[in-house]
Amino acid sequence: MKRIAILGTGSFAPEKILTNADLEKMVDTTDEWITQRTGIKERHISDKDTPTSVLAVKAAERALAAATVNAGDLDFIICGTVTPDMIFPSMACLVQAKLGATKAVAFDIAAGCTGFIYGMELARSLITADPSRKVLLIGAEELTKITDWTDRSSCVLFGDGAGAVVLAQVDEDRGILSTFLGADGNLGDLIYQPGGGSLHPASHETVDGKMHVIKMAGNRVFPHAVRKMGEAATRALEAAGVPQDQLDLLIPHQANFRIIDAIGRQLNLPMEKVYVNIDRYGNTSSASIPIALDEAVRNGRITPGKHVMLVAFGAGLTWGAVLMRW
Ligand code: UT7
Repeated sequence: MKRIAILGTGSFAPEKILTNADLEKMVDTTDEWITQRTGIKERHISDKDTPTSVLAVKAAERALAAATVNAGDLDFIICGTVTPDMIFPSMACLVQAKLGATKAVAFDIAAGCTGFIYGMELARSLITADPSRKVLLIGAEELTKITDWTDRSSCVLFGDGAGAVVLAQVDEDRGILSTFLGADGNLGDLIYQPGGGSLHPASHETVDGKMHVIKMAGNRVFPHAVRKMGEAATRALEAAGVPQDQLDLLIPHQANFRIIDAIGRQLNLPMEKVYVNIDRYGNTSSASIPIALDEAVRNGRITPGKHVMLVAFGAGLTWGAVLMRW
């Protein structure tokens, strides 16, 4: 049996931590509100001189070491990110140079918090087209660099970090069993960053008008997130013919504990089968799933033979799920 599988995982988060108590001093909020409404207690934040590619490279080096693959043997580097170092060149090209992965084709995917899941399907397709290929997939973000620190409804949510995996074909019955992706561009204005693109190029006006920060209608996003992640996970289980009760671990995008809890209930999963680390990281967008996956592999929550589901939702709107046998 040949399948496309993850050979190794890695992750990295900046050392500096911003707690809810720190945020109480910055905006009109409380630790109690943030904890009860989101499940977040603290998040890692990058310093001003450290761009996202630095976090991406550290996570990638750990994934390559775990996979025992040399950077020079990579065929593709794909980065899921909406906070690249700059608009162009792509962050994947910056990572390619820093890793010395001279053979690799490199590009970014902008699918918001679903970037890593979109990347998994892309990696699967690329390896299906040529089974000799090795793909490095990274989810890396510094959302705190585009956060409006005066908007209490969003600034308490975000954190920085990176996660990475190396994928290749294996001659074993483990790896990706099914995927499901979706998008609805009609709901694009629920989470977006209006300034800096060709519609509103950077200018004094766009800076004064706070157009370079995240705008999110959180309470309108919430029900879509629950419905679409539940649907994506169900469709992926159906496509693989795996019954719900054979799912061993659900790793959902860490946007809000109440969303995570609702998806767990939709899938009839007890909470011990749902991975949660939002309390320590906040919402790290496309990095949240590969960070959680790396933690779960390293702390023994994922062991060979387990059915693991990754499911995400984000700006676009976009959503998707990947079911794997580890
Ligand atoms: O990762 C990409 C996808 N993004 C998401 O999935 C985000 C989904 N949405 C959410 O997680 C939640 O909607 C939020 C955490 C963003 C907000 O929670 P909520 O329970 O939906 O609150 P809300 O926006 O409906 O606001 C309820 C109240 C409001 O006060 P009033 O009008 O009822 O007096 C807000 O002004 O809570 C107030 N509020 C706060 N109070 C203290 C909003 N933010 C804060 C805050 N501290 N930080």
